[in-house]
Amino acid sequence: MKRSSMEAAKQREQDKDDQSDSQSQQSQGSLEPGMKRAKMPKKSKHRMRAHINPMGDLTIPVPMNTDYVDWSLHYPSFFGVPNNNDDKMFCNKEQKSEKVPTIVDIGCGYGGLLFELSKEFPNELILGMEIRDKVTNFVVQKINSSRINSGYKDYLNIGVVRTNTMKTIHNYFKKESLEKMFILFADPHFKKQNHRRRIITTQLLSDYAYSLKTGGKIYTATDVKELHDWEVEHMELHPLFERVPEEETKDDPCIKFMTEGTDEAKKVARNGGSVWHSVYRKKDLEKSRNEIQQEIVKFFL
Ligand SMILES: C[S@@+](CC[C@H](N)C(=O)[O-])C[C@H]1O[C@@H](n2cnc3c(N)ncnc32)[C@H](O)[C@@H]1O
Repeated sequence: MKRSSMEAAKQREQDKDDQSDSQSQQSQGSLEPGMKRAKMPKKSKHRMRAHINPMGDLTIPVPMNTDYVDWSLHYPSFFGVPNNNDDKMFCNKEQKSEKVPTIVDIGCGYGGLLFELSKEFPNELILGMEIRDKVTNFVVQKINSSRINSGYKDYLNIGVVRTNTMKTIHNYFKKESLEKMFILFADPHFKKQNHRRRIITTQLLSDYAYSLKTGGKIYTATDVKELHDWEVEHMELHPLFERVPEEETKDDPCIKFMTEGTDEAKKVARNGGSVWHSVYRKKDLEKSRNEIQQEIVKFFL
């Protein structure tokens, strides 16, 4: 394809994205008299190159440890703060939060999933984590505008931080604090020498297992079969995870959200692509230990 026609195709794709965003926002609730509707951000103004090297040194501030994350800045109304604070992240200020995020979207991109999850889980704090700055800023603006436009009734339980999750997940989440983790349409890093940059590796799965509660789930979806196979292979081989059978997930609303509701999923659907997904859960180690003991006893009887 010639450069000019490639650019025109890209522009058309961006226009469709902005259009589908503004359509989904028209359904927002009405405002109190006297309140001004906030402008929604446009994706086309927050584009940047697709990949940032997660192995590189990025100068993004990171909280010293989990006691230094002030979640009230992200979810003010859950902490009795009436307005929001532009969702700025505060670093290196000790602030033990009673209420912490339990659902996380790793590599949340433009944040479509957060908005889908917000109403389904109104009492949970949901956090998007994204490495690209302009994209994170888009999500911050979209959350703020959506809160304002709903008269501060909706989207109070979603937030976002800019961070490299490959290096910082333990700075944000305490041991066994998460219920659900989404890793959707992850960057495929096709070249063999770049497989170590993938967001699911044996090492990273051990990190995720540390932050997940027993029974907590990892949801994956992708339109790249090779990446799906890689993700499944690593989770199958990991001793702390087991696959959730499909009959158990058929009524789980998250499956529809993750395969149809994220920004990437919508793009795949528009282009007629396929999506593969999986759900794994953190094993109950106590139960596994007992089962093994029973097997040993049976063996010797
Ligand atoms: C292809 S996009 C998918 C976005 C979103 N999950 C969706 O389904 O629409 C992958 C996203 O992961 C982000 N990402 C990649 N590596 C990351 C890392 N180490 N930490 C945080 N975000 C990362 C990228 O910047 C990109 O926005």
